[in-house]
Amino acid sequence: MPTSDDNFGNVWVIGASSGIGEGFARLIEDKCQNVAISARSSDKLEKIRSETEKLTPFPVDVTSAQAMTEAANTIEAQFGSIDLVVVCSGYWAVMRADQLDLKKMHTAMEINFFGAVNTVAAVVPGMKARKRGRIVIVSSVAGYRGLPQAAAYGPTKAALMNLAETLKIDLEPSGIDVSIVNPGFVDTPMTRTNKFTMPGMISVEEAAQSMLAGIRQKKFAVLFPFVFANTVRLANLVPNWLFFWGIRRMLRR
Ligand SMILES: NC(=O)c1ccc[n+]([C@@H]2O[C@H](COP(=O)([O-])OP(=O)(O)OC[C@H]3O[C@@H](n4cnc5c(N)ncnc54)[C@H](OP(=O)(O)O)[C@@H]3O)[C@@H](O)[C@H]2O)c1
Repeated sequence: MPTSDDNFGNVWVIGASSGIGEGFARLIEDKCQNVAISARSSDKLEKIRSETEKLTPFPVDVTSAQAMTEAANTIEAQFGSIDLVVVCSGYWAVMRADQLDLKKMHTAMEINFFGAVNTVAAVVPGMKARKRGRIVIVSSVAGYRGLPQAAAYGPTKAALMNLAETLKIDLEPSGIDVSIVNPGFVDTPMTRTNKFTMPGMISVEEAAQSMLAGIRQKKFAVLFPFVFANTVRLANLVPNWLFFWGIRRMLRR
């Protein structure tokens, strides 16, 4: 269906059973024709539907390419199209590089990176046929540089940033727009167990509002909160010696 800044058409939010995805789905429900919400926990999705009828659950595991394609086909059959897909599914595990847990590292890559790849593979054929569509992938500022205890998580987010650039270049001629969202710390179930200081922490509502603003402005990279996210991004530009010196200082505190 035709879309505008005030109506995103038919939207598929993945990772919508909690946190940023749930917050974003709730925020945009009156700015869309239909909102499909996905995650593995069908009970949580059903609870959200019971509160806001516009959000329709389609439980799926992003690590299964086949299940993701089937889910996309079902949503398109029911709603007529997927005009905007937002990938918020994610997995986080604290991991130092001297205590690698290979199983968790594979899980992180399967959910964070291949989950997004499976989504793209599932929605692009329909979007190409309609010559329009938008793909939004939630990465993290943790993808800009290697950070302490992020051995499992950071590389998956760096891979997403790189993937999104290729997607934008290759899909633009087919009328498909791509954005990458790089949040700092957001107060969600994912961060609630962290024992370390999380500077610049914002609420889910603030994160969802910032995502919406960035998507409306058709930005390629959407960063928030402004100061913290851009400070981490700047770390990408400083020389390596200065980056590692800064990290050592931070760890000594
Ligand atoms: N919170 C932060 O500070 C922060 C910062 C930067 C980036 N991010 C990113 O933001 C995104 C959302 O995270 P969040 O903080 O909102 O965490 P969250 O509340 O834990 O949400 C994660 C979502 O992903 C879903 N999910 C996990 N594995 C899945 C799978 N295999 N298949 C389908 N869905 C799956 C979860 O639902 P089920 O368990 O029901 O499947 C849940 O809905 C993630 O990509 C995260 O890396 C978060």
